[in-house]
Amino acid sequence: MQTIRVELADRSYSVFIGSGMLGKSNAAISIPAGSTALVVSNETVAPLYLQALEDSLADVQIQTLILPDGEQFKTLEYWSRIINKLVEIRATRDITLITLGGGVIGDLGGFAAACYMRGVRFIQVPTSLLAQVDASVGGKTGFNHPQGKNLVGAFHQPVSVMVDIDTLKTLPEREFSAGMAEVVKIAAIRDEAFLNWLENNVPGINAREPDTLINMISRSIQNKADVVTEDEREAGVRALLNFGHSFAHALETLTDYKKFLHGEAVAIGMMVASRLSEQRGLCAPGFSDRLGKLLQSFGLPVGMPDNSHPDDILELMKLDKKVIAGAYRLILLTAAGQGIIDSDSSNEQIAAAIIASQPQ
Ligand SMILES: NC(=O)c1ccc[n+]([C@@H]2O[C@H](COP(=O)([O-])OP(=O)(O)OC[C@H]3O[C@@H](n4cnc5c(N)ncnc54)[C@H](O)[C@@H]3O)[C@@H](O)[C@H]2O)c1
Ligand SMILES: [Zn+2]
Repeated sequence: MQTIRVELADRSYSVFIGSGMLGKSNAAISIPAGSTALVVSNETVAPLYLQALEDSLADVQIQTLILPDGEQFKTLEYWSRIINKLVEIRATRDITLITLGGGVIGDLGGFAAACYMRGVRFIQVPTSLLAQVDASVGGKTGFNHPQGKNLVGAFHQPVSVMVDIDTLKTLPEREFSAGMAEVVKIAAIRDEAFLNWLENNVPGINAREPDTLINMISRSIQNKADVVTEDEREAGVRALLNFGHSFAHALETLTDYKKFLHGEAVAIGMMVASRLSEQRGLCAPGFSDRLGKLLQSFGLPVGMPDNSHPDDILELMKLDKKVIAGAYRLILLTAAGQGIIDSDSSNEQIAAAIIASQPQ
């Protein structure tokens, strides 16, 4: 088992990464004996792992709430259901809320924990690769508003995170690939050695070899933890985690959240951002080809849909949270493993990078 500390003064916590943790009591989910825990999960994940999680929680009074599965349920209404459940069971300040599932359950449950009685303890048990390497660490919680994804939320750090890689055995292939986009992202913006490691370990990763996965996930989380420690509330360096995301969000909106999983859109967005970095002369030519090859080896798409008009993408990007004083604030690269925040790309340059990313 690997342990990574997220250092945030009195809000510090550990992330535990290993296999065979679910089903046994362990340090990753230590809850005071005799107290109550509310487990929030969904209709897909609960039948697979809820019993094992309960077996890990000896001497704890367990309540459960199972929500429907899907991003379309990451809303005020389903957040209210969690709050209503807490009220119904007369939860007091010493309740621990445990989220068991992907990023949707983690974000929604985490935000209920942030709000109930102005904040109660919560533990993340992420079961998708994306949630394990990204969403479960860093304390961003919230839900979607019809007018915007993740528009409502709060920073609320968990008290611990338990990553049991055994859960990945049941994760659909497409979801696994989507998680790989966030792994490649963190390597691309701050860890060239990790990027090289990924390139050298494609077969083991795709075969989901346990030791390879534990290494890969730990390294991703260590990078994210370092970023969060440095800049918990995204005043600076944490914005680098948005590499590829401005384009991805525009693409997700343009296609009604139906065509691409988030990670797939991020893969395409990173290609546009790295092409732009090359075209602007910020990084040496050839990086986007290298990145594209790696993304494709994990089964990810790398091309903008051929009917995506640059003007539409630019227009949607204006609505994104990353536009400041009219300038597009983008994450670009100066080299492999070196992301920067940049506001100097013109509309024409961005449009050219979008067109260069469409099928030729
Ligand atoms: N808080 C953050 O910092 C942060 C970061 C990145 C993403 N997010 C959020 O995370 C969400 C995306 O997360 P996601 O990709 O995990 O989506 P998700 O929660 O919808 O999970 C993807 C699918 O996989 C299923 N699933 C999860 N674990 C499984 C398992 N072990 N076996 C079988 N099926 C399983 C889920 O039920 C779902 O159908 C988005 O809402 C996004 O905004 C948050
Ligand atoms: Zn993302």
